[in-house]
Amino acid sequence: MEKNKKISTESYKGTRDFYPEDLAVQNFIFDRARQISENFGYEEYNTSVLEPTELYKAKSGDEIVNEQTYSFIDKGDRDVTLRPEMTPSIARMVAKKRRELTYPLRWFSIQNFFRYERPQKGRLREFWQLNADIFGVEGIEAEVEIISLGYEIMKALGAQDEDFVIKINYAGILKETYQTELNLDESEVKKALRIIDSKNKVSEEEYRQKYINDFGEDKGKQLFEIEQKITEKTKQNEKFQKCVELGKKLENKGIKTELDPLLTRGFDYYTGIVFEFFDTNPENKRALFGGGRYDDLLDLFDSEKIPAVGFGMGDVTIKDFLEVRSLLPKYQSKTELYLCTLSQKYSDNADQLATSLRKQNINVTVNYSDKKIGDQISVADKKKIPYVICIGGDEVQNKQYKLKNLKTGEEQEVTEESIADAIKQITE
Ligand code: HAM
Repeated sequence: MEKNKKISTESYKGTRDFYPEDLAVQNFIFDRARQISENFGYEEYNTSVLEPTELYKAKSGDEIVNEQTYSFIDKGDRDVTLRPEMTPSIARMVAKKRRELTYPLRWFSIQNFFRYERPQKGRLREFWQLNADIFGVEGIEAEVEIISLGYEIMKALGAQDEDFVIKINYAGILKETYQTELNLDESEVKKALRIIDSKNKVSEEEYRQKYINDFGEDKGKQLFEIEQKITEKTKQNEKFQKCVELGKKLENKGIKTELDPLLTRGFDYYTGIVFEFFDTNPENKRALFGGGRYDDLLDLFDSEKIPAVGFGMGDVTIKDFLEVRSLLPKYQSKTELYLCTLSQKYSDNADQLATSLRKQNINVTVNYSDKKIGDQISVADKKKIPYVICIGGDEVQNKQYKLKNLKTGEEQEVTEESIADAIKQITE
């Protein structure tokens, strides 16, 4: 590198730095998600961000493995990948201890993932997901539970029913219909499904053009025009009746869904019902959640099959969802009290008081600067710290303090012993 060349302060393309205000939003989203997951009896687990590349080669779907993974050869000649999703990892963990684990197994995790995608609205190269999965339930109760869990998370984040829509389909029917009705071969089906996946993200004309680009003028137009017919055929498929049944069961619980024969998922491991949650605001076109049933994935590990259903909920689209509806929480510092000093000679006294208050579970920071009192108070205010106490000669001598609420401007006389209680009472 050139000796005097300065380094950019930008984070790596498609990733984010989380400044405290940003992390507070992220924590808000995932604290709620964790709370609801635990409320449904799900237990938290984790895996490493590094996985052997072969884990994704067999079943994740071509696009993910060939174009979207961050893969490299390590110093020991091993082919390694930064995890693009959690599902193969959880399947590996379950397969490894399948005899010791107790079923139904309900697990969740909140972790980051990496996909080499073109960064755009709702899509980044590093993102976080809540994954919730249930193993060991063959019946539709599993789908009902897992979708209810997603629904309750949306409600806990402040969403109204009309803010989002849950779309349901059955994996593989569309492919079957294309093969039997139109004689498309495997690679043509893949191309058609990819185009369908982009349906809601581009204009009608762009969408039609995609067919023509990929299939040529005649066949492209034909496929575009026949889509409605394909939809009808798909609805008649026997497997699709499972979606109808699920829709009814959820409806009985007050959860509305939409059956969508054109819903596609980007992974090859789904074996049954698949679903996605979408924002109803047209500004946010990409899915909030995606998931489905994958009963055969443990095959990868030469293990007996264990039925499984789960989903991933992404932070990027959820944040956009909350933002357009002004549902993001206001930033509030976790620090409750700022100790100002009339002069620097009181720093030690302030530090002693802080030490004692921290032992009483009050979050305190201390001024060490020689700024004027007014400026110290505005530092506290800017940092959104709700209370200040100023320490000078009188306070040190009499052990009597004025606790000031920066929001209301009110002041309260307190003794050293009563500070903690006074703050706790006000913040409760
Ligand atoms: P997925 O549909 O690829 O499914 O991702 C689930 C959610 O993660 C998406 O709906 C979206 O919110 C978010 N997401 C995915 N890719 C990105 C990205 N590049 N940038 C921002 N957000 C993104 C899965 O990952 C499955 N493994 C989910 C699953 C769990 N299926 C069964 N269990």
